[in-house]
Amino acid sequence: MNNALTIALSKGRIFKETLPLLAAAGIEPVDDPETSRKLILDTNQHDVKLVIIRASDVPTYVGYGAADIGVAGKDVLMEHGGEGLYEPLDLGIARCRLMVAGPVNVTTEKSRLRIATKYVQSTRRYYADRQEQVEIIKLYGSMELAPLVGLADRIVDVVDTGNTLKANGLVPLEHIADISSRLVVNKAAMKMKHARITEFVAHLKTAVAV
Ligand code: ATP
Ligand code: PRP
Repeated sequence: MNNALTIALSKGRIFKETLPLLAAAGIEPVDDPETSRKLILDTNQHDVKLVIIRASDVPTYVGYGAADIGVAGKDVLMEHGGEGLYEPLDLGIARCRLMVAGPVNVTTEKSRLRIATKYVQSTRRYYADRQEQVEIIKLYGSMELAPLVGLADRIVDVVDTGNTLKANGLVPLEHIADISSRLVVNKAAMKMKHARITEFVAHLKTAVAV
């Protein structure tokens, strides 16, 4: 029976903050993704591999079963929709807030605000729930620039310290959701490799509780 595990992680903060949790489950990568160009990393366990992908691609890899398990921000999962995925554990890492932000002291008389964001689905849902008509402009990064150059009235982005907003003369205006990273598991893998994945999740749960 194939009991090997493939775990999908993104470089940067998620990889860094997941490392101690993996160590608690006895898993240590052999290479460092910040210095290695490899996209598949071996670990100290011969049948556990890490695949290094973009944060927003993690639900896709795990949903299709190309990885058994992954770590993804709730912001990314809210956009993806969660098809094919279980979300058994809040890892409590990469904490931030999804917020509407905009310039200080600007009152707009417009009936239809323009909102720049990479979180199109979450933004659509948020304003639909409030029965507000908005125009959403999809961006892939540096959302803070959009109000400064007249592309949008507001942005929807994740905020942690608020330093990025402040540095660009913007302020947080409305809170949409608290965000942290979640463990996601492919539904079919959960059935086929039940004992192994359950044990892995239990180790992580203990490590998160510490
Ligand atoms: P992609 O490369 O796919 O565009 P990204 O650049 O948003 O994704 P990261 O910056 O590594 O990827 O962020 C990964 C996750 O960490 C986000 O999905 C979010 O949940 C969380 N996050 C983003 N920014 C912050 C922050 N400033 N502080 C804490 N957590 C954050
Ligand atoms: C994220 C987000 C904000 C910033 C918020 O960007 O897109 O720009 O963090 O954090 P703060 O409130 O502590 O300033 P990140 O640093 O991940 O850069 P990137 O998404 O462009 O990679």
